Amino acid sequence: MSMHATPPNDERPVILTGDRTTGPLHLGHYVGSLRNRVALQHSHRQYLLLADAQALTDNAHDPAKVRSNVMEVALDYLAAGIDPNATTICVQSALPALAELTMLYLNFVTVARLERNPTIKDEIQARSFGRDIPAGFLCYPAAQAADITAFRATVVPVGEDQAPMIEQTNEIVRRINRQVGRGLLVEARALIPAMGRLPGLDGRAKMSKSQGNTISLSATDAEITDAVLRMYTDPDHIRTSDPGRVEGNVVFTYLDAFDSDREAVADFKARYIRGGLGDMTVKRRLATVLCEIIGPIRERRMTLERDRGYVLEILRSGTSHARDVTTATHTEVRDALGLFSF
Ligand code: TRP
Repeated sequence: MSMHATPPNDERPVILTGDRTTGPLHLGHYVGSLRNRVALQHSHRQYLLLADAQALTDNAHDPAKVRSNVMEVALDYLAAGIDPNATTICVQSALPALAELTMLYLNFVTVARLERNPTIKDEIQARSFGRDIPAGFLCYPAAQAADITAFRATVVPVGEDQAPMIEQTNEIVRRINRQVGRGLLVEARALIPAMGRLPGLDGRAKMSKSQGNTISLSATDAEITDAVLRMYTDPDHIRTSDPGRVEGNVVFTYLDAFDSDREAVADFKARYIRGGLGDMTVKRRLATVLCEIIGPIRERRMTLERDRGYVLEILRSGTSHARDVTTATHTEVRDALGLFSF
């Protein structure tokens, strides 16, 4: 059986999710969705989209960056444990059916609704577009709806910031189904990790490369340790003997997210709150835990980096399979709307 062949009676739920190719992935992506994707890839029929077209919506001035990060994100996927024999990895801009579906969907959404999308609103603020919002950027929720529905996905593992995108996708699905008078497209649900978003090293709500508050998935042990030493803790915890706070303390938030020894973490928290446990001791433990998680990812990534031909072949064959799947959906939507086909 070819690596993308799906048995006809495959009843596994379909996953589609992806990442903008604007930079290598970091620990926030790992906790936010990558870990889920690795865990779900055998129980689900999974597609991962390298969203280079979406990346262009706010990077039109730097297409070379968008292009080179297609490879970087693919390397991150494979290094983190995405199995190309189980998951189809594909390149968004090479799937014309997605663009064509987007054009159709744009007629089923209003500009006002796009402007109200909370994710878009936040992102417009963060990018200080002012009135100069690229039209492609404002419209990318319709494109994301095209991505999700083209694969007939019902499960979308993403970080919590993406929840409004899935909501808007389902609105478009309902509008189109109402228009064609049947359940042509399927609704999807966001799969968001219980722990929520991983804060940046500095305690800001979000990890972001541009803020310099992230740890990359290819960080060396020295870089990881250095990042942990810089982490925001409790500014009032000055002497080891002082009682400390664990809420809002990034080191403890990360231990909660990564340290599998729950008891040890609970013990650390109790001692920290009581007073008598120094920041350095907690940080040293976190550095060890993170080095153990990132180490194997970094090693696999270095091996894969030397074999780009192999990675390109995975993308080529994944995209070719995805082209069949997305074209079939596009044809169905066209037919259901009664558009001419010659
Ligand atoms: N918007 C997502 C992000 O910023 C990337 C993305 C593009 C995506 N298409 C998708 C996520 C479809 C889930 C499903 O990371």
